Amino acid sequence: MTQSIVELRNLTVELPIRGEYHEVLRGINLQLESGEALGLVGESGSGKSMTAKTIGRLLPSTAQVRGEVSVLGRDLWSLQGAALRQHRTEVAMVFQDPRAHINPVRTIGDFMTEALRTLKRVDQRTARSMAVDALVELAVSEPERRLHQYPHELSGGLLQRVLIATMLLMKPKLLLADEISTALDVTTQADLIAILDKLRRKRGMSMLFITHDLDLAAAICDRTAVMYAGQVIEAQASARLHSDPWHPYTAALSAARPPLEEDVVRLNAVPGRPLSAFEAPKGCSFAPRCRFATDDCTSGPVPLTEIDEHISVRCIRARELHQTDALKGGTYV
Ligand SMILES: Nc1ncnc2c1ncn2[C@@H]1O[C@H](COP(=O)(O)OP(=O)(O)OP(=O)(O)O)[C@@H](O)[C@H]1O
Ligand SMILES: [Mg+2]
Repeated sequence: MTQSIVELRNLTVELPIRGEYHEVLRGINLQLESGEALGLVGESGSGKSMTAKTIGRLLPSTAQVRGEVSVLGRDLWSLQGAALRQHRTEVAMVFQDPRAHINPVRTIGDFMTEALRTLKRVDQRTARSMAVDALVELAVSEPERRLHQYPHELSGGLLQRVLIATMLLMKPKLLLADEISTALDVTTQADLIAILDKLRRKRGMSMLFITHDLDLAAAICDRTAVMYAGQVIEAQASARLHSDPWHPYTAALSAARPPLEEDVVRLNAVPGRPLSAFEAPKGCSFAPRCRFATDDCTSGPVPLTEIDEHISVRCIRARELHQTDALKGGTYV
């Protein structure tokens, strides 16, 4: 039987925005199984990074949180001292901009070996040799030379590899990857993702993979959850998300992708603009942009409903729409 690595139950997070507390996550229910890669997609501001930061216990100290969060079998909120330090080594987070998370005046070697030396008491020579091995795994050329270089001497793509190699040195059980390839050009992105995917599978590491790109999520994630205005509005097998979406928003996102084969004349943008959780109307948050919305959609809260054990969706018309071809195969807009 698989064991859940992450379990979020009814997670709500409030943050102070312009002096007042507002909900940025609203009743998130999400599970990540051992060895699984779970994609998290959705427009800007939908709450993807906040979800990852919650799991990593990296929320701003002003955050007010409700709900249950269990990570690697431990209650996240009760972690302190040694248990919190263990959490920090077992759960690694990598962000979009590597330069913001690396000290510019220290060498790559010092950066890569610090946690090994201080947290795992590995001696300097062994730590440097482990760092070289990790760089080799990430296909970084001239690894020994890299250890003597400074961050500004490396390209963004190379620095991101260094950061991932450094995280992997601690042998994390869970990687939280937040838009790690968004700032890179297409071929650098493809190389990085392919290497990460291979390494993850080899190590049996679980991963939460945040991206704007549905196709990228589908390529490397077993399941994908779609977020909208601080809620999960659909979760199911990545492979079926495009071909068989259950939520009109998922169908709209899918239809908004540029087609690969045909000449693109016009992209099908999702009409309207994305909302933050606290701007969302009563009832379904997507209703103002949804061409299938009726009065019932905004009359009360819409629960996340399980269609079966693999599919959950937050739409009162989901079953009815799914029976027609209204949402199928990118035909939404
Ligand atoms: N430190 C903060 N203080 C207050 N509000 C914040 C803070 N960080 C994010 N928010 C708000 O929380 C909401 C969710 O933000 P989050 O960063 O999780 O979105 P996201 O889905 O990751 O978006 P993007 O794709 O742009 O990275 C947004 O409305 C954002 O403005
Ligand atoms: Mg983000």
